[in-house]
Amino acid sequence: MPLLIRDAAELVCVARRGERRKTGTACSEPEIIREGAILVEDSLIRWVGPSADLPPLPPNTQVLHAQQQTVLPGLVDSHTHLIFAGTREDEFEQRLAGKSYQEIAACGGGINATVRRVRQASKEELKTLARGRLHRLLAHGVTTVEVKSGYGLSLAEEIKCLEVIADLNAEGPLTLVPTFLGAHAVPPEFAHDRAAYLRLLADEMLPEVARSQLAEFCDIFCETGVFALAESRRVLERARALGLRLKIHADELTPLGGAELAAELGAVSADHLLCVTERGIEALAASGTIATLLPGTAFFLGVAYAPARRLLAGGAAIALASDCNPGTCPTENLPLVGTMACTQMKMLPSEVVVALTLNAAAALGRAEQIGSLEPGKVGDLIVCDVPNHKQLFYHYGINHVRHVIKRGRLVYTAPTMSPPQRSAPSGG
Ligand code: NIG
Ligand code: FE
Repeated sequence: MPLLIRDAAELVCVARRGERRKTGTACSEPEIIREGAILVEDSLIRWVGPSADLPPLPPNTQVLHAQQQTVLPGLVDSHTHLIFAGTREDEFEQRLAGKSYQEIAACGGGINATVRRVRQASKEELKTLARGRLHRLLAHGVTTVEVKSGYGLSLAEEIKCLEVIADLNAEGPLTLVPTFLGAHAVPPEFAHDRAAYLRLLADEMLPEVARSQLAEFCDIFCETGVFALAESRRVLERARALGLRLKIHADELTPLGGAELAAELGAVSADHLLCVTERGIEALAASGTIATLLPGTAFFLGVAYAPARRLLAGGAAIALASDCNPGTCPTENLPLVGTMACTQMKMLPSEVVVALTLNAAAALGRAEQIGSLEPGKVGDLIVCDVPNHKQLFYHYGINHVRHVIKRGRLVYTAPTMSPPQRSAPSGG
């Protein structure tokens, strides 16, 4: 059934001229139509404009009035590690007492603690756990989500995780974009022979992942003590030759040069970038690689944030994502990550909107289909209980998402957060 949303206080289109990403001052121009309307039919956006200019509607159009509300493209979470079992609140406490993420990992905690739990879990258990996370993301306005493997770290266990992602994508309503992260850590059984694990990745895991078509992207944790720059280059070149597109966990905890490598290899995105150097910023700006920032991780680790303003001034295209994972960022609240981008990295609410929609879609190679409200794009959108986009991040920690529309269908409506109406006093 066609769906019309009308009278929105703000219809935030993000782009109106088919832009595939935004950089510089364009990021603070989210193309807002006041008292806006949007018509979606057969899963695609047909028309956007002022409600006063509506064209004749197709028969049986369902109408949603959005007075005092803000309509945005469905949010795109372009970096998550959703397939995991177990939790790591014990490490959270250890960090509060002064241990670093790296120290905890060196003692058998960190990624390998979750690897043990994932290997014990069945596909059905992993699916049930991830389904809950996907529902919470949806309730926070996310309509497309990238999901990495990376807690299996053997051929069979990584395939198990990628199959879970494929099954959940088929279930809907969210679109899941699968990434192979077999190079997330060296698993314990290879602790004394990392070269052997790198051979396994290159000779068995990557070819099988590519053949199975279970992943669209290949990612690697390029970090001191995890995978060195030269190792990362070898893995990523192999993945690229096998037809996978590239992402890199780059310059997260130390300035290794992952941003430069991402730009050189034509990676679709370089993610984290807390420690990116000036050279890295220049390389990203000169390339098509999206700089994906994950301020929820810096917040949760209590470390310095990525230099968003310098990246913007340097001309890089910035996306924001949750990094939802059990170690460094256990949250599905993507709008709250937007507030962190504002207060901690000094991004404007308008820049945050672009980074959570169009540029995040670009970080998944999908900016032609999603990420803005333009005729011809997929009808993925959200209706929020705020009169303008700034309040989405200003009134923080609150979920303002009221309706989620996926491919033109209403798939989620939140219970109201308003106090119950008092009945008028009777008599007297
Ligand atoms: O993005 N950096 C590597 N991966 C995750 C952390 C994963 C974990 O600690 O379980 C991240 O921060
Ligand atoms: Fe990550």
